[in-house]
Amino acid sequence: MTTTIQHTVVIGGSSGIGLATARKLIGPGMKVTITGRNQDRLNGAWKSLGGAVEKAAFDASKPDEVSQFFERLGPFDHLVLAASGGKGLGPFQTLDLTDIGSGVDEKVRPQLSCLQAALPTLNKSGSATFISAVSAQLATPGVAGIAAINGMLLTVVPILAVELRPLRVNVVAPGVIDTPWWDFLAEEQRQAIFAEYAGKTPVGRIGRAEDVADAIAFLVSNGFMTGQVLTCDGGLRFAA
Ligand SMILES: NC(=O)c1ccc[n+]([C@@H]2O[C@H](COP(=O)([O-])OP(=O)(O)OC[C@H]3O[C@@H](n4cnc5c(N)ncnc54)[C@H](OP(=O)(O)O)[C@@H]3O)[C@@H](O)[C@H]2O)c1
Repeated sequence: MTTTIQHTVVIGGSSGIGLATARKLIGPGMKVTITGRNQDRLNGAWKSLGGAVEKAAFDASKPDEVSQFFERLGPFDHLVLAASGGKGLGPFQTLDLTDIGSGVDEKVRPQLSCLQAALPTLNKSGSATFISAVSAQLATPGVAGIAAINGMLLTVVPILAVELRPLRVNVVAPGVIDTPWWDFLAEEQRQAIFAEYAGKTPVGRIGRAEDVADAIAFLVSNGFMTGQVLTCDGGLRFAA
């Protein structure tokens, strides 16, 4: 009996949720390619995965680099879109509204641009999984900007699932997850925010990158899931 090997590309696979997803997916039936901008970070991630993945450094916000990557890559089966932005947090009254545009440029456009460039070579029986954020589903002060950015991805996914069928298109909305995304805060501040959110979250803790990787792996592997928002937040959505 021959086993078909599938190939997953994780954009933003050199850190946090993307890296945990690559670690979760690697196996006898799955080849994985990870990407990121920073070559050293990418090499570190590659080493931490025992060199068991392919890697490519490029900036997903640069359309030329994106199209060159997918042209070189050739046919593949699944696309995970974990590239990140960090702008848009804070009270609305003082929110710098240009941060919303920057957030779109840093997160929404790169994720959409990668899917668009991948379409000619992405297996139509495969999948694309975006990563948004639960902030787009919360009625809680201080997240209007980041919700506006991430809400775009929640909105387009059901449309793309129908327009691009039979390709399956889904999105994961993580809660507060302990990853380097939070490194812009000083350690003490970060721990205070994590403790606050752990207290608000019904499961009593914040998330680990592996929690979200499990949700992504489910969407990649389940051939009957499409157009879905899978919220992976420990119940924060209902309690914040
Ligand atoms: N952590 C949380 O609490 C949380 C909550 C909700 C949603 N999310 C979302 O989850 C996704 C993953 O975040 P994370 O927490 O895993 O963050 P992370 O640890 O900072 O990882 C982000 C990854 O994206 C890559 N990346 C960023 N911009 C890129 C670009 N323009 N081109 C190519 N690669 C790029 C980074 O590598 P380079 O910097 O080297 O490019 C890195 O591999 C993001 O979309 C984030 O918004 C996170």
